[in-house]
Amino acid sequence: MGTKISGFGFYVPENTVTNFDLEKKFDTSNEWIIERTGIQERRFITPNETNTSDLSVNAAKKALEMANIAPENLDLIISATLSADHSIPGMGVIIQDKLGCKDIPAIDIRQQCSGFIYGLDLADLYIKSGRYKKILLIGAEIQSTGLNLTDEGRDLAVLFGDGAGAFILENSKDTSDIIDSILHSDGKYYKELWKESPNSTHKGRVLVEDIQNGNIYPKMNGRTVFKHAVTKMPAVILELLKRNNLTKEDITQIIPHQANFRITQMVAKRLRLPMDKVYSNIHKYGNTTAATIPIAFTEAYNEGKFKKGDLIITVSFGSGFTWGANLIKF
Ligand code: UT7
Repeated sequence: MGTKISGFGFYVPENTVTNFDLEKKFDTSNEWIIERTGIQERRFITPNETNTSDLSVNAAKKALEMANIAPENLDLIISATLSADHSIPGMGVIIQDKLGCKDIPAIDIRQQCSGFIYGLDLADLYIKSGRYKKILLIGAEIQSTGLNLTDEGRDLAVLFGDGAGAFILENSKDTSDIIDSILHSDGKYYKELWKESPNSTHKGRVLVEDIQNGNIYPKMNGRTVFKHAVTKMPAVILELLKRNNLTKEDITQIIPHQANFRITQMVAKRLRLPMDKVYSNIHKYGNTTAATIPIAFTEAYNEGKFKKGDLIITVSFGSGFTWGANLIKF
């Protein structure tokens, strides 16, 4: 028995925010953003109108339709996000209710940019253990409402966008499979990309000072994160290939987390792969964190980058640090 990706899809809000729109909000330029990141535009929700579980449900419906599965036939939901609707409870249960599922378990995981990679391994192991047969895995974020859209926050504000993507995973007798996954973390770097507040030591979680000094916004040491990303992603791909007695030539398409086009270029360069083997759509959506992999996977498939039977690797690196890769026979 293998684990088959029987459905996939994504949803992004309609509201497109270009680099020129950001130029009007704070001190940045279209040229800087394109040169340093490759991003041309991203989607931001209209605040107070929608939340991350709504984006999730919209993406889930597309994946369910493709898999031809009704929500009441799902038996597990795994929701990966760093921007859940509320801090209590997790978002999986809200998705479970909004989709009209039975009282199935709903798990929230929070591995930030690596959330979908971690979730895919978890779903695969649940299916192969025989515990669950039809799993909905979602990666979704609303980043826009959590960014500091002023001069002080400009380094991060230009990078992120809102969106959601979903997979349906089922047990399968055909050749489709999540063949293997390798996951890593190294928590000594957790402050290189983090948000200090809300904080469990602060009474009420958020202090007035946290708001005044900007601790409610994410902070990143961009160069350190960049350096680790371009090292760890090629390394985990090579680790996965070696463990499965494969070479990079056996892989039809690598689908990396979309953090920065320069990072994607470096991954291709370090693996000595042409750019058409390493997918990028960051110019359209920016970094949607837990959602980049299913969004990129769906668009790559729609563009004919891979077909039934091909080998694909999904790979990510992000806050934690966490990183990892999945080897997929589609
Ligand atoms: O998904 C999670 C993982 N995240 C990542 O992998 C992101 C990794 N890091 C990066 O992608 C890059 O480090 C950034 C895109 C964040 C930054 O690019 P960089 O080439 O490392 O730039 P930098 O931070 O070294 O900044 C260069 C200059 C600075 O000015 P000075 O000190 O040289 O005068 C910044 O103040 O660019 C300035 N700058 C900006 N200028 C215009 C920083 N942000 C902006 C901005 N617009 N938005």
